[in-house]
Amino acid sequence: MAVNYHHSRREAQATVREIEALGAESMAVPADVSKPRQVESMFAQLDRRFRRLDLLVNNAAVFFPSQWDQLTEQDWDQILGINLKGTFFCAQAAARRMMARKQGQIINISSLGGLQPWPRYLHYCSSKAGVIMLTKCLAKALAPHICVNSIAPGTILFPGEESNPAFKKIVRSTPLRKGGCPADIADLVVFLAAKNRFATGQVFTIDGGKSIA
Ligand SMILES: NC(=O)c1ccc[n+]([C@@H]2O[C@H](COP(=O)([O-])OP(=O)(O)OC[C@H]3O[C@@H](n4cnc5c(N)ncnc54)[C@H](OP(=O)(O)O)[C@@H]3O)[C@@H](O)[C@H]2O)c1
Repeated sequence: MAVNYHHSRREAQATVREIEALGAESMAVPADVSKPRQVESMFAQLDRRFRRLDLLVNNAAVFFPSQWDQLTEQDWDQILGINLKGTFFCAQAAARRMMARKQGQIINISSLGGLQPWPRYLHYCSSKAGVIMLTKCLAKALAPHICVNSIAPGTILFPGEESNPAFKKIVRSTPLRKGGCPADIADLVVFLAAKNRFATGQVFTIDGGKSIA
């Protein structure tokens, strides 16, 4: 199992050690996913190390607020380059390899923000709405061999964030009255990776019910 990183080498190596402790082969691979040449070189490294590619989880993204009248071309290039273009080029490289064996799973992490408009994050929401449409288009393009699905998380709380007033407000307006935790998303990834045989082109929203509130 390969772990891609851009800046967080130490954290990626710690994840590799956790995977190896579970008995699986692993490696950390650097690549800026917004750069197609770096993506291709990352997959070439994986070809040399692993016999086959079964699964791709497109998780890399950036998230930052901006008012509509402050957004620059650089902001758009960054958010679309990483969140949308990076997701596509990783999927393209993975699908080329999976097609050789006529099987595979691609899971694109999108966001509730790709389904609901958040005005201070309109660039992020647009990039994640793009990831959702990309998921549907790729699912048709790669059928019947490769399943392509998306997971759209709502607000996920990391340790220390519980007392943040903005999160408290979100939690109050969430039907399950809580934020998610990273394991909620990881468990759904594992389910799709290990058990999915019949879902493709779908968006699995996991948000404590916020999308229906
Ligand atoms: N947290 C939430 O509440 C929430 C809600 C909805 C959706 N999501 C989605 O869930 C995913 C994970 O979110 P998170 O909160 O864990 O984000 P995070 O803590 O900010 O982590 C983002 C990851 O993306 C990687 N990344 C950023 N730019 C990259 C690039 N150019 N090339 C390669 N990797 C790059 C970073 O790697 P390095 O550190 O190595 O640079 C980092 O590991 C994202 O797709 C996010 O949009 C999160």
